[in-house]
Amino acid sequence: MHLPKTLALALALLPVLASAQQKQANYDEAAIPPYTLPELLISASGAKIETSDQWATLRRPEILALFEQHVFGKAPAQWGKVAYETLSVNNHALGGKAVRKIVRISLVDYPQWQGMELMLHLPKQGTKPVPCFVGASFGGNEAVTPDSDLPLSTRWMRPGKDNGVEQNRSTDKTRGTEKERWQLELAISEGFAVATYYCGDVEPDHAEGWKTGLRAFLSKAGPETQWKEGDWGAIGAWAWGLSRIADFLQAEPAVDPKKLTVIGHSRLGKTALWAGAQDTRFRIVISNNSGEGGAALMRRNIGETTASITKAFPHWFTKTYSNYSGNESSCPIDSHMLVALAAPRTVYIASAEEDRWADPKGEFLAGFHAQPVFALFGKNGYGVAEQPPLNAPVGETLRYHIRTGKHDITRYDWEQYLRGARSEFGL
Ligand code: GCU
Repeated sequence: MHLPKTLALALALLPVLASAQQKQANYDEAAIPPYTLPELLISASGAKIETSDQWATLRRPEILALFEQHVFGKAPAQWGKVAYETLSVNNHALGGKAVRKIVRISLVDYPQWQGMELMLHLPKQGTKPVPCFVGASFGGNEAVTPDSDLPLSTRWMRPGKDNGVEQNRSTDKTRGTEKERWQLELAISEGFAVATYYCGDVEPDHAEGWKTGLRAFLSKAGPETQWKEGDWGAIGAWAWGLSRIADFLQAEPAVDPKKLTVIGHSRLGKTALWAGAQDTRFRIVISNNSGEGGAALMRRNIGETTASITKAFPHWFTKTYSNYSGNESSCPIDSHMLVALAAPRTVYIASAEEDRWADPKGEFLAGFHAQPVFALFGKNGYGVAEQPPLNAPVGETLRYHIRTGKHDITRYDWEQYLRGARSEFGL
């Protein structure tokens, strides 16, 4: 399907708008207006939360509902029967080091939705079920794997500087363009499986993408849907996809379903945080450079703001979120609460030095201010009061690092995540 001309033009202008916004943003700490974070440990009725039980039964559900209402919207409660179809198995993936399965996950009652193609890489040796990373990718499976035997995805793709996408479709030049971001061989060599899917299988990432995505198909009015405040956005839908992978992995004999880690970079890091907040089967939640709408505190007006993100990417969130543009202090949540929703599971937040747009300090602080909730469970947090130096990871149940370099997910980041996961899973 070709996009209408106006939409194609708007999409082409997005990078221009984004870079203009990035240039004009505030990057001066001293210019951040003073703010007070919403209380984590006082319930809506004013009760003080003093035990892990009170947190789990009273405050956590309240905060989860606030994020649904104000930020990401509420996912539908039902989608009927799920079908799994194995499309291919390659026993010699990654130079013979891995087994690669492609499984289509679709909905029996919603055949209009083409489903999502899960790509699972498993270490070859060993008989014991292995821990598994679960994440969404920016491009099709052919972009993630360095192997060149996969058919190209035929779905809509967002063009990028170096992703080989032409007329919104993958080409042979797309192959392997995300392989640095997905350190499959490294993870496999350390005994981890990696499950990925292309986020656009669930919803193409542009303002009208929902019309051909899962959200339209699950909604009674289809592409005519008028989204109301509190209805889910694309991040909610992508996070739904991650949970469907977690469902599949419950019955995959090669994977230990009690050792799942959800991971994501940038917009997909926001997605990982939201998936981890809702779905407690994810034992570790990794936010890589997730920035505004992810780990960065929204009240710190530095780098990207609520106003800029909801203008450039209105489809990511529920409609309500844009009401807080320039008015962040009236929002009943901030990102320390999103991090706290994962407690007492492990959360790893990572920033990059040059990624000022994502507000590295604000990302650090979200974890820092979430610590009292982890403490209720007797869990240790960062163990430091200030952002650590570059390339010097800190923490236990709450972990953090800031590395040199730009907005990206690199081998260095993966090395730290794998170290964190090994320690969490006692490997
Ligand atoms: C834009 C957007 C960020 C997002 C990033 C990405 O820069 O403003 O919020 O995290 O894209 O997903 O790469």
